[in-house]
Amino acid sequence: MRVTAIVLAAGKGERFDAAVPKLLVRIGGKPLIAWSLRQLQRHRGVGDIIVVSSPFIAARLERLVRASRFTKVRSIVFGGERRQDSVLQGLGAVGRESGIVLVHDGARPFVSHGMVTSVLSAAAKHGAAVVGVPVKATIKESKGAGPVVKRTLDRSRLWEIQTPQAFRKAVLERAFQRFGKVAVTDDAGLVEKLGVAVRIVPGRYSNIKVTTREDAQFARALVREGAV
Ligand code: CTP
Ligand code: MG
Repeated sequence: MRVTAIVLAAGKGERFDAAVPKLLVRIGGKPLIAWSLRQLQRHRGVGDIIVVSSPFIAARLERLVRASRFTKVRSIVFGGERRQDSVLQGLGAVGRESGIVLVHDGARPFVSHGMVTSVLSAAAKHGAAVVGVPVKATIKESKGAGPVVKRTLDRSRLWEIQTPQAFRKAVLERAFQRFGKVAVTDDAGLVEKLGVAVRIVPGRYSNIKVTTREDAQFARALVREGAV
């Protein structure tokens, strides 16, 4: 079954707070987004790539795609207000022949070949799969929004969910049709509402999302240490 990857690059990067757009900030000699595009370009299981961009960086992304010979990129489309609106824009550009859709945050540079392989095979088999790692921190729930602890969550059942996430295209489309208006922080959130069981496959703690400037410093350190 043909696989299309949707790479998200339409965020505002507000928490990053720098003059350079977050996805173009340099990590180990190349723009942040080039890391994941390169990995997906190299992976034989990925047929083509759709980049969902903000209007501010679209021209620069086009140049990057050409200069780096990311030949699998079939189109660059504009995103929407929320992350899920951007995914929906990407989904609209997926070709008819694709049966599996992989969604990845452009801000998550160190996705590995193995993660892509395992999330794709779990999605083909079960319909929906995400990459995740066991939570390392102690997580407490507060009473309302205030600073008083209500309870401590059982860590042995908590996972930090990353991207890539992969779905049979029909499953993701149905999730958007039925629940697209509900606000979620990841794609699997909508699929869960359908009642489809989402499989978790092993991610890595190094598969970080660059959100703040410290994350970029951490990403550079991982590259320097040869950890990615
Ligand atoms: N994203 C997107 N469209 C949006 C919001 C986010 O394509 N409307 C993408 C981002 O470009 C990023 C990924 O989704 O690759 C994860 O989002 P996040 O880390 O929150 O990035 P931003 O939304 O850009 O950052 P912030 O929330 O700090 O503004
Ligand atoms: Mg955001």
